[in-house]
Amino acid sequence: MIEKGVEIAPANGKLGILLVGLGAVSTTFVAGVEAIKRDLSKPIGSLTQMGTIRLGKRTENRVPKIKEFVPLAELEDIVFGAWDIFTDNAFDAAMKAGVLEKDLLNQVSEQLSSLKPMSAVFEQKFVKRLDGENVKTGKNKMELAEQLMAEIADFKQANGCERLVMIWAASTEIFLEPSEVHQTIEAFEKAMYDNDASIAPSMIYAYAAIKSGIPFANGAPNLSVDIPALVKLAEDEAVPICGKDFKTGQTLMKTIIAPGLKARMLGLDGWYSTNILGNRDGEVLDDPESFRTKEESKLSVLEQILQPEVHPDLYGDFSHVVRINYYPPRGDNKEGWDSIDIFGWLGYKMQIKIDFLCRDSILAAPLCLDLALFLDLAQRAKMKGVQEWLSFYFKSPQTARGLYPEHDIFIQLKKLKNTLRYLKGEELITQLGLDHYD
Ligand SMILES: NC(=O)c1ccc[n+]([C@@H]2O[C@H](COP(=O)([O-])OP(=O)(O)OC[C@H]3O[C@@H](n4cnc5c(N)ncnc54)[C@H](O)[C@@H]3O)[C@@H](O)[C@H]2O)c1
Repeated sequence: MIEKGVEIAPANGKLGILLVGLGAVSTTFVAGVEAIKRDLSKPIGSLTQMGTIRLGKRTENRVPKIKEFVPLAELEDIVFGAWDIFTDNAFDAAMKAGVLEKDLLNQVSEQLSSLKPMSAVFEQKFVKRLDGENVKTGKNKMELAEQLMAEIADFKQANGCERLVMIWAASTEIFLEPSEVHQTIEAFEKAMYDNDASIAPSMIYAYAAIKSGIPFANGAPNLSVDIPALVKLAEDEAVPICGKDFKTGQTLMKTIIAPGLKARMLGLDGWYSTNILGNRDGEVLDDPESFRTKEESKLSVLEQILQPEVHPDLYGDFSHVVRINYYPPRGDNKEGWDSIDIFGWLGYKMQIKIDFLCRDSILAAPLCLDLALFLDLAQRAKMKGVQEWLSFYFKSPQTARGLYPEHDIFIQLKKLKNTLRYLKGEELITQLGLDHYD
């Protein structure tokens, strides 16, 4: 064991989780936590709750649960807050989202009904398919941020929270390239006063969170906190941030399978992915400008994992197509098909077909829990700025400037666990193991 790890403040008191967007993902997350607290279910899919971590050598048999190894907030200490452009409380929103059965929702109805969304910072230009009435007004974007900060402070006090974290689980905004106003905090703040069109609502929430000293995770592919101005602000304010775009469904499969193909040096001619999805997220993504944001996020994954420039004979010329089709009858129960054209020894061609009947919000909810708990841990360990060790959870992981993101899920998991070992002063695991044969 290394002499000492990093000093981590204890997870005493309540942790407030502030959710931007109270839709399918958020309500499935909140209802799930309440159900698990009542022992109605198990936290399946959550690394913080069910995962273990090996410490030391294989012969030492030290494999604690992650939540016993690092000090994480307890589920009993979590309280929820939310913003949405609709006034539905979490129970009504969950019923509309149609992810969880009525029976289960009824058992946690009291907790869900009491979660009423605060009015949102919203501009329809950024999410064309939605129009809600629960929206803030203000003379400029800075004033809207100030309203959010006041609400955050009130929430903290009213709920007796020691600490807060914020997660963007709201709709995907239209595609934006970072521009001048996103480069420095001075330019960004001036643009907020000037009501500049390039400041999206998701950036205003991120700004309000960071200024309030609250960690921020972005579960959607829109830029939000992934701009130099807000990254710098997070470093200056000592706030951990991470994003973008929860890695669930088809991209999760892609980042599980692609590393395996590459490990065996099998070639790729093409990967065609298509989905049908009928929830509100699917409806928002039916708008080409919102879809573009998602498409960029989904496409980057294979290139990085397969490294065509390093392996031109195997991956120099593959085609990669991603489609999402809005199809209401399926609701949140997405179906994703992948048709993968690969080649092996002597160039002989083979095909892999995947038909994943997945449930988007069921896959995303445990990621919200893990991100909230790990970001809170990061802050108590005085980690600040981009938390690349949380790449495991994202389709487009944020990294330090100039670093390419790591997409291989197995490398991401290793990075995450080694970060936890580092925090606790445990030996990092290299899997070398030669000493067993000395
Ligand atoms: N479910 C998944 O597997 C998954 C994976 C990756 C990313 N995501 C992303 O997570 C987000 C949430 O997904 P969902 O299925 O819950 O969608 P949803 O449409 O059910 O919920 C989003 C909610 O956000 C609200 N909203 C929109 N703009 C807002 C704003 N500016 N402020 C406050 N609320 C706002 C909407 O009214 C809606 O209730 C989407 O951006 C989606 O692309 C989901």
